Amino acid sequence: MARRKVILDCDPGHDDAVSIIIAASQKSDLDILGITTTAGNVEVEKTTCNALKISTLLDIDAPIFQGAKRPMVKAAEIAPEIHGETGMDGPKLPEPKITAEEKHAVDFIVDTLKQADGKVTLVPTGPLTNIAMALIKAPEVKGKIDEIVLMGGGTFGNWTPAAEFNIYVDAEAAKVVFDSNLPITMFGLDVTHQVIATKGLRERFSAIDNKISHFVVELLEFFGKTNEELFGFDGGPIHDACTTMYLIQPELFNFKHVNVEIETKGEYTYGMTAVDLYNVTGRIPHVKFADSVDQEAFWQLFGEILSSYSR
Ligand code: BDR
Ligand code: CA
Repeated sequence: MARRKVILDCDPGHDDAVSIIIAASQKSDLDILGITTTAGNVEVEKTTCNALKISTLLDIDAPIFQGAKRPMVKAAEIAPEIHGETGMDGPKLPEPKITAEEKHAVDFIVDTLKQADGKVTLVPTGPLTNIAMALIKAPEVKGKIDEIVLMGGGTFGNWTPAAEFNIYVDAEAAKVVFDSNLPITMFGLDVTHQVIATKGLRERFSAIDNKISHFVVELLEFFGKTNEELFGFDGGPIHDACTTMYLIQPELFNFKHVNVEIETKGEYTYGMTAVDLYNVTGRIPHVKFADSVDQEAFWQLFGEILSSYSR
C-alpha cells in the first residue's frame, strides 16, 4: 500500500517534538513531505530552529519551511511559561546540520498540494495560521486534502477559561479552517488530558534506554514540571502526540461526530471551540471529535515506538 503523505505543521514545543518523533518512526507507512513551522509556543524563528534540531537528531530527510510570524489578525502570544524561553527547554539538543528552505511554509503547502499525486493529510499541532493562509491563497487545493488532523480546542480551556492555546492564538485562522468544509479530526483538551506522561511512565520509557527515549524523557521532565506548576497535573499531557498516534492506530481513540464553531468575538470566550456534543443547534456535525482514548494501549504503542529507535 502507498504510504500516506503528510505535512506536519507545528510550533515545537515539547509535545510537537514528541509528535514528530512518532511520525518519523513510521517510515513504511507515513511519507513526511515537509515540516512547516508557525509562531505559537514561541516566536517562529525559535520554533523553526527547534524543528531543525529535532530533524538533525532523528535524521529526518523531510525539508523544513518557516511559516507565519504572527496570527492573521491580532498580535502573537507565546507560552514560555510552559515550554521555556527556547520553546523546548530541558534536553540538550544537537546544533542543526540542516537549514530551513527559502520558500515560505504557506507556499510550500499550496505548491505541494497542487503538485501532489493523490491526496495529502495536514497535521497541524500549533495555531492554524499557515493552514488558513494556504486555504485563502489557493482554495482550489482543498480537493487535494484528505483530512486535517489537528490538536486544538476542546469543551474547556487552558489559556483562558474558555479557550485552548492553539485556537486562542489565532481564532480567525481556526475559523477559516473549521468553516472550510474539509474533513477535520480534532484532538482537543478533552482527550489530550487523558494522556499525561506521569513520573511512572517517564521511568518506564527511560528504561528503554536508547538515544531517543532519553531525549523524550528529558522533554517530558521539563514539560511535566511546568504542567504540574501551572495546572497541578501529575505530568505533561502530550497533546500534540495524539495526532500522529491516530495516524498510526486510529482505533486507540473514540470519536463523536459534532458541529464545532469558533468564537471570534466573545469578551470572555474568544478562541473557544463551541462543541455541540448533543446537537442542540441542529447544525451539521462536520468534525470528528476525539473524546476518549484507550490509555493502556496508547502508552503500550508509545513504548514500542520509542523502542523501535536504535541505540
Ligand atoms: C497546545 O498548546 C501548546 O502549548 C502545545 O504544544 C499544544 O499544541 C496545547 O494547548
Ligand atoms: Ca503545539
